[in-house]
Amino acid sequence: MWLSEKFNLKYPVISGGMANISTAVFAAAVSNAGALGMIGTGAWTADQVRAEIRKARELTDKPFGVNLMLMNPHSEEVSDVVVEEGIKVVTTGAGNPAPYIDKWHEAGISVIPVISSLSQGERMQKLGVDAVVGEGQEAGGHIGDSTSMILWPLLAKNLDIPVIGAGGVALGSHIIAGRVLGVQGFQLGTLLLSAEECPIHDGFREQLLKARDSQITVVGRAGGGMPTRIMKNPLARKYIQFEKENRPKEDYEQIMNGALKKAVFYGDKNEGCFMMGLVASLIDEIKPMEKVLADLFAEAEAEYARIKTEDILA
Ligand SMILES: Cc1cc2nc3c(=O)[nH]c(=O)nc-3n(C[C@H](O)[C@H](O)[C@H](O)COP(=O)(O)O)c2cc1C
Repeated sequence: MWLSEKFNLKYPVISGGMANISTAVFAAAVSNAGALGMIGTGAWTADQVRAEIRKARELTDKPFGVNLMLMNPHSEEVSDVVVEEGIKVVTTGAGNPAPYIDKWHEAGISVIPVISSLSQGERMQKLGVDAVVGEGQEAGGHIGDSTSMILWPLLAKNLDIPVIGAGGVALGSHIIAGRVLGVQGFQLGTLLLSAEECPIHDGFREQLLKARDSQITVVGRAGGGMPTRIMKNPLARKYIQFEKENRPKEDYEQIMNGALKKAVFYGDKNEGCFMMGLVASLIDEIKPMEKVLADLFAEAEAEYARIKTEDILA
């Protein structure tokens, strides 16, 4: 696939930028396991990003990249840091990367925005990006409206640049499905939370393992901010109650402020915001990163062998 060929990877996988989680340690673990690790910069300052890139360099000699949340007030400076530090791939989210694309391309950086609709994909293609990550609403974190099942083939059919599929990938059968639907690689978030090296609190791991499909919900669709897929807990219930009461924006901000950190660093079951995708309901084991990826692709090979020998259309 394009992703593994372009970056010389064992697996056609890029890790999602996950604020407070996709640290140097995490990105290096992903890259050392044969995929492309990304440092998720969230709201970090330029100095924090530089320090994390340098730390990752000490932990791996494999390529890794940086995810930029364009809502970050330090985006401009961070966009220079990735150039200065010799990063070769940048994914972007939550905004328009247009002001930085020429500068990044001159520095030999591949630019891959995360998008959730065909119109966004068409706009990004016009800007000259190298590929897009098409993220279906099965994903954990901030989401759009389309599903991977629809978005991936829609993008693959209508764009001339490679499409990387994100949202809802945790099984070998998802890999085969994505390949058939036309994607050229996968961005994983939730499944990688189950890796031993993932720097989340044990309380977060516990929530991930016990999450059933009906316990994962979306808040923010009713006007209270950005739609976000999270686990149903007291915080999520409060948010949903606020939506029913049509509360002002400040009320949502008050409960969500620092809530992801409360989940990631302290495993706070009441006030933490446990972002996770629907695939959490399929995850029942914590294992080393290398095994997470090896098992996923061994399963994909087994699925492929199965559909070649069974008459699946009968
Ligand atoms: C805990 C968590 C935090 C996330 N934070 C971010 C983020 O800061 N920036 C971003 O672009 N995407 C973020 N995402 C989305 C991931 O990068 C990725 O696209 C998504 O998880 C893929 O779908 P999946 O969860 O079904 O694997 C987050 C996802 C999770 C699960």
